[in-house]
Amino acid sequence: LYRRRLAINYWGRVRRDPLSRLHLAEGRANPYAVYDEIRAYGPLMPTPLGNWVTANHAVCDAVLRDRRFCPRAAQMNGPGAPGDKFDMSFLDKDPPEHTRLRRLAQPAFSPKQIAGYRPRVERVVGELLDTAAAKGTFDLVSDFAAPLPIAVISDLMGIPDADVDEFTEHGALIGSALDGVRSLRHAARLLAASDALDKVFVRLFELRRREPADDAVSRILAAEGDQIQPHEVLPLCRLLLVAGFETTVNLIGNTVNALLDHPEQWDAVCADPAGLADAAVEETLRWDSPVQRTSRCAVEDIELAGVTVRKGELVVPLLGAANRDPSVYADADRFDLHRVPEADHLSFSSGIHYCVGAPLARMEAGVALRLLAERMPGLRRAGALRRRDAGIIRGPLAFPVSTAVPA
Ligand code: HEM
Repeated sequence: LYRRRLAINYWGRVRRDPLSRLHLAEGRANPYAVYDEIRAYGPLMPTPLGNWVTANHAVCDAVLRDRRFCPRAAQMNGPGAPGDKFDMSFLDKDPPEHTRLRRLAQPAFSPKQIAGYRPRVERVVGELLDTAAAKGTFDLVSDFAAPLPIAVISDLMGIPDADVDEFTEHGALIGSALDGVRSLRHAARLLAASDALDKVFVRLFELRRREPADDAVSRILAAEGDQIQPHEVLPLCRLLLVAGFETTVNLIGNTVNALLDHPEQWDAVCADPAGLADAAVEETLRWDSPVQRTSRCAVEDIELAGVTVRKGELVVPLLGAANRDPSVYADADRFDLHRVPEADHLSFSSGIHYCVGAPLARMEAGVALRLLAERMPGLRRAGALRRRDAGIIRGPLAFPVSTAVPA
């Protein structure tokens, strides 16, 4: 009886906790319905664990821009914590460490660099589409979306050709951890992959110290001792790999999924791929964001939207919910690639942690969609889409499609 009561109590708590519900089947299938309930509660909703969650665009944006809210790890580690496996480099840091490290990564995403990566992206997408076209029926995730970002990031970092396969294999596994660790076995595989990846990086650092080239890693190493300490180099490189991998895969997957659900808009993109592909990607970022939420910790008591958030409490800005806030966007739940949005979406966050890789993500997804629409206007579903398990990263895990033109 005691155990039953415990179980009922537990499930009662889960059902009352909006964040837990996002992990249940209902929340995974349609988080937007749970977000509506959270928004209806008010600008900030308390969670049973003593934290806060918000689905309100203005409050999300305010929290992300407010320097009294910090990434949680910055609070736990303090500045200058030695780089360990969980060190997410500047993603988890406050200024001045954040500013110093971010400045080192930034040049890799300048307009000139992005323009330089474009031909390579076009080539990789073209090759992937050749293989997919030969198959006829293929998986949009594993055969198309997933291999692209990892090829681009290998290039950006200057991974030697001989190491690219190993880098890809371990990087893909570690990227899957963005969404949480599923089991002890998963944890063990992650640790092994992470060790193996570190070895690839260490080999690369040795090579680039001897023979610098025109890539991000050589530039970071050139700043060693001055703007970056040796123990900070590995976490920074790991961050650049992990942050850009799963996110971009899901942006491509979500864009194609949204368009196949709105056939008239898919037809419009196919009629004018060069003109409309970027707009479809942008509307997907708003409508079905690959990163659905982040979190911040209050470093002092803060008055916000009529409540006091106490020092040490977490606030979870639901980015995917802010993007559909009806007080900001007209007809917010409608996917419309012709929309002229009333405000910036928050899919790349806001404030000082605004995604440094956003221009690269937009370019990759834009090229992928443009070439897909040009070459496969007859694309259609060839089976049920299977979604990822957890609720932070949203996107398809398996997405069978076929190139055949319907009869
Ligand atoms: C930060 C989303 C692609 C590198 C972030 C944040 C979000 C985000 C939401 C901020 C997290 C927070 O505020 O707590 C996305 C999405 C992407 C994408 C949706 C693709 C669709 C990329 C790419 C790269 C990248 C391609 C690099 C190759 C980073 C880095 C940060 C970051 C380094 C940390 C920025 C900082 O803390 O100052 N990204 N990202 N991201 N992203 Fe992205």
